[in-house]
Amino acid sequence: MTEVREVSLRPIYDSRGALTVEAAVTTAGAALGCAGAPSGASTGTHEVRAWPEGGVPAALQTFRESVRPRLLGREVEDATGWDEALHAIDGTPNFAHLGGNVATALSVAAALARAKERGVEPWSLWARPGVDGRRFPAIVGNCMNGGRHAIGGPEFQEFHAISLAERPEDSVRAAVAVHHAIGKALQGKFPTLALGRGDEGGWVAPITNLEGLEILSAACAQVRDSLHLPVQPGLDLAASEFFRDGRYRYRDRSLDAAGQVAYLTELVDRFGLVYLEDPFAEEEFASFAEFTQAVGSKTVVVGDDLYTTDPIRLARGLTERASNAILIKVNQIGTISDALATVDAARAAGWKTVTSHRSGDLPDGWLAQLAVATGAYGLKCGILGGERVAKLNELLRLGALPT
Ligand code: PGA
Ligand code: ZN
Repeated sequence: MTEVREVSLRPIYDSRGALTVEAAVTTAGAALGCAGAPSGASTGTHEVRAWPEGGVPAALQTFRESVRPRLLGREVEDATGWDEALHAIDGTPNFAHLGGNVATALSVAAALARAKERGVEPWSLWARPGVDGRRFPAIVGNCMNGGRHAIGGPEFQEFHAISLAERPEDSVRAAVAVHHAIGKALQGKFPTLALGRGDEGGWVAPITNLEGLEILSAACAQVRDSLHLPVQPGLDLAASEFFRDGRYRYRDRSLDAAGQVAYLTELVDRFGLVYLEDPFAEEEFASFAEFTQAVGSKTVVVGDDLYTTDPIRLARGLTERASNAILIKVNQIGTISDALATVDAARAAGWKTVTSHRSGDLPDGWLAQLAVATGAYGLKCGILGGERVAKLNELLRLGALPT
């Protein structure tokens, strides 16, 4: 029986202390699925509306009055049907009535209830054709923060360890080792400074972009030497955040689009960067394409704010060859089914997908299940902090299951 016996929504707090919601779906067979909605700080303009007018309190009221009654008794067996019902109840093109975060929590909670009811791992319900659950994503692990996620840090938002070992026990070990090595390096560089950590658990220090890259690439090299595991540097620039009036504005320079392409191409070569997310602002498809043409054979070029997990924006990116990979954040588009449709379009074109957390997140593990289910190139979930390590631990658990 996969009919919904109870569905509820309650306010909870995310890792930043922001109010969000958790959905709980109970089936007639007493299987319970619970999921909370994460939230972003450097959000893309084209994401669905996270909350309706009036924020979380309004979302809770709408849920009680007009959503819950229409979901009770409904089948959760059919994932697409459940997610379509959320769209129908919402009645807007961007979840402005329900809130995309409410839709996300309800979509994921129903899927988790369905998996429990069947006694299977969630990834198997979400698995794309050809995925057998035995191939694991690279860890895209945030080690140092800047931009909107860290006051006083560099302009580049995230410095990543891209940990490429095949087995989760190795990839997680190497990612954690890079994070630790960076902590030591920063303590050595600033012996009297109280160092902090940013929203996604990466270190924050008063360094420049170039100093950050030097520290990151040295830490990756150190871990490659000591653990003999493949780990390489990568970046999420979140470039929309420092793009104004057609120029990328750094503390020490201001670059036009061509200048930014040249600057980043040089950084890719100099530091051996294997991953670059949002190197240009969110409407700059042409710059993305030029850059992908230059470095795409050796680097994963990822669109996050560029696509916002939206199949229509992805279609434009595919036509213009704007990148070779797309970031997948479920709450940018509102439901698991919508996110999977975008994944399918990317996979059909031979592009990589990267399954991603948000800067405000929760100690849930389902993101790792989604990454495995979609054959993702990467699981972008940070490294340290309870809400980050929960996803890595879920990946470890999946890696340890008997074949
Ligand atoms: P957000 O940013 O979760 O704060 O939107 C993360 C990212 O840009 O990848
Ligand atoms: Zn990003």
